[in-house]
Amino acid sequence: MTADTLAAPRSPQVRKKGANLEKWGWVYMRASGVLLVVLIFGHLFVNLMLGEGIKGIDFAFVAGKFASPFWQWWDVLMLWLALIHGANGMRTIVNDYVTNATARKVLVWALWLSAGLLILLGTLVVFTFDPCLGVTADSMLWETCQG
Ligand code: HEM
Repeated sequence: MTADTLAAPRSPQVRKKGANLEKWGWVYMRASGVLLVVLIFGHLFVNLMLGEGIKGIDFAFVAGKFASPFWQWWDVLMLWLALIHGANGMRTIVNDYVTNATARKVLVWALWLSAGLLILLGTLVVFTFDPCLGVTADSMLWETCQG
């Protein structure tokens, strides 16, 4: 086979031992896609259509949602699934289009590093969120946050 001929889709892979990670990556895109439809459209429906709709979104609305373990887990699941889905999808594109091996390695590393950092920060924010942090006497939250 010359360099400008593509291998047939079912040709044996270079990696012969261990789990077929590319296959599981493919399965992950489909499975997370199905879950993301429910999570993203549920999120949009609850935030934009129920109650006062978009006009009801403010600090108190977000604080209210983060006070509930149900919404904390909903949001964290959406964060993890979407970031891993997005990074893995971008990894596919990088592998398809970046021909320089070093550039490809650097880009794929950068993808997982940024996704990992965002997952870490986002998860910390959702589970440690405290609406009373830093509230002073001149804040309208002062009364609520006493006691
Ligand atoms: C309703 C939610 C979503 C569904 C149902 C969905 C579904 C899918 C599926 C099935 C694929 C694989 C396509 C293929 O292999 O040919 C894919 C690829 C991809 N997705 Fe999603 N996705 C969703 C949300 C997202 C989000 C939120 C992001 C970004 C964070 C994202 C970024 C990507 C990227 C970058 C690819 C790779 C595209 C490519 O290979 O050309 N998707 N998506």
